[in-house]
Formats: sequence, C-alpha cells, structure tokens
Amino acid sequence: MRTLRDISELRATLRDARQKGQRIALVPTMGNLHAGHLALVATARQHADVVVASLFVNPMQFGPGEDLDAYPRTFDADQHHLTEAGCDLLFAPTVSALYPNGLEAQTRVHVPVVGEGLCGGSRPGHFDGVSTVVSMLFNLVQPDIACFGEKDYQQLAVIRKLVADLHMPIEIIGVPIVRADDGLALSSRNGYLSAQERATAPTLYKTLCELRDALAQGESIEKVLQRGKAALYDAGFTPDYLELRDATLGPVTDTTRHAVLLAAAKLGPARLIDNLSVQLPSAARR
Ligand code: PAF
Repeated sequence: MRTLRDISELRATLRDARQKGQRIALVPTMGNLHAGHLALVATARQHADVVVASLFVNPMQFGPGEDLDAYPRTFDADQHHLTEAGCDLLFAPTVSALYPNGLEAQTRVHVPVVGEGLCGGSRPGHFDGVSTVVSMLFNLVQPDIACFGEKDYQQLAVIRKLVADLHMPIEIIGVPIVRADDGLALSSRNGYLSAQERATAPTLYKTLCELRDALAQGESIEKVLQRGKAALYDAGFTPDYLELRDATLGPVTDTTRHAVLLAAAKLGPARLIDNLSVQLPSAARR
C-alpha cells in the first residue's frame, strides 16, 4: 500500500489508474481503524480494482468543546491494518493541504432537511463539516464507488442526498454495523470508556432490540420511546435522542412499515450512537 500526503501525487496516481480503465473505490475514515472500517475496505475491494482509503481527522465536523484534540490518532497501526485488508492507496492529507485558507474562509456544503435533527440537532454544523470534506475527497479521488458505515445512519443519508443533488456519478454503498460480541457497535469513541462504562455500553443496543420487538408487536410508539429513554437513564446513560423515523429519516406515518430506531447517548466521556431497523405492523395493529 502506498501512502500519499500530497494532492498532486494522489491525482497523478489515480489518473494512471483511470486511464487503464480501473474502477476506483473510496473509503473515507478519520483513522483509529477497527473491524467496522475494515469491513468497509473489504466491501470496497469486492467492487473495485483500486481501493483508496483516506485518513483525515476533519476539524470542520467537530463543534466547540467536542473531542477534536482527544480523537485517537493511531497512524502506524492504521497503515498496518489497511495494508492487511488489501487497501492500495492511503491518502492522508494535512489540515493545511485541505483547508489552505483556514476553516473560516472555506466554502461549505450544506445538505438540508435530512441533516437536520438527530445528530444534526445536537451537533450544529457537524454535517456541513462532513459534507464539505466528503465533497472534497470525492473531487480529489473521483471514485466510482464510496463505502460508508450504517452506524452513522444519518451521515449515510446526508451523503446519499449530497451525491444525488449535486449529480455526482458515485455509487454510495452502505455497509452493515459491525458489533462486538456483546452487541456494542464498534466505534473509535468506545476507547474513551472506562472498564465499568464499557460493561454498561451494550445496554444501548440491548435497549434498541427490546424496543424494536415491542414496536413490531404493535405497542404505542410514544410509550415505547418513553420506556427506552427511562431504561437508558437507569443504566447510567444521558440520552441525546431516541427516535423512530422512516427508513429515509422522514416522520413515521400510518403507512410506514420500514422504520429505523436511532439513538445517541452520552456515557461518561463518550457519546455513543446506534440504530436498528424495525418492521412496523400495519396501522390497524398499532
Ligand atoms: O464517518 C467518518 O469517519 C467521518 O465522518 C468521515 C465520513 C470520514 C468524514 O470525515
């Protein structure tokens, strides 16, 4: 695997690949790679001749007081994992390479509606930061496909809309959540948890599973969500949100059958997110 830091080097390398008619896949990451990221690389590998991963801790998507400085940086281990996973190129630019005029002066990309509420509500500006850097990476790499994890369900929806609205010829592939044996969705932020918090953390997924089953049985959505929030508080979480939306993140209506339960909750220093799809019974049975 080659590691490139330079935009011009990246462009030259990919120009050669494109001229040979090779299909290019991009896996954008912020590093500190775990099995969830490696599943993205494995999916990319199945769909393309050249797999490019990017590693960039994007300051624009962190709000004031968030964990930009604490975000784990494990470059050597990441390089090793990507090589083992069959990645061809790692693009790891500096902040000044991507934002040469600073963040304030930077053109931003805003994806309306789908980026509002949920994580967009509790992290103002977050999805503008994500949409801006992902647009930049798409322009630099010009991939045929790009892989994103379904754990960041709203992020995936934002990126799908971004690509559709801006007519980018890129296929977006969502890759299922990878979980630890106890159900906790893998995340770089799990590393912030103490041993005791780590033992509590799977309660988030367990709660979502219980709520999914209750909703599938036709229990009232409002009551189920109230019960879920109470269960999370009881376990020691501070929930940011717990919501049921339709699969495109629109509101659930009487005709919605495919829905998704989405949660974000703080546990000690970590803000954990998770989601689970739910098959709702017909309105008559709710
Ligand atoms: O999901 C992430 O790690 C980041 O939000 C992404 C897509 C790499 C953009 O910085």
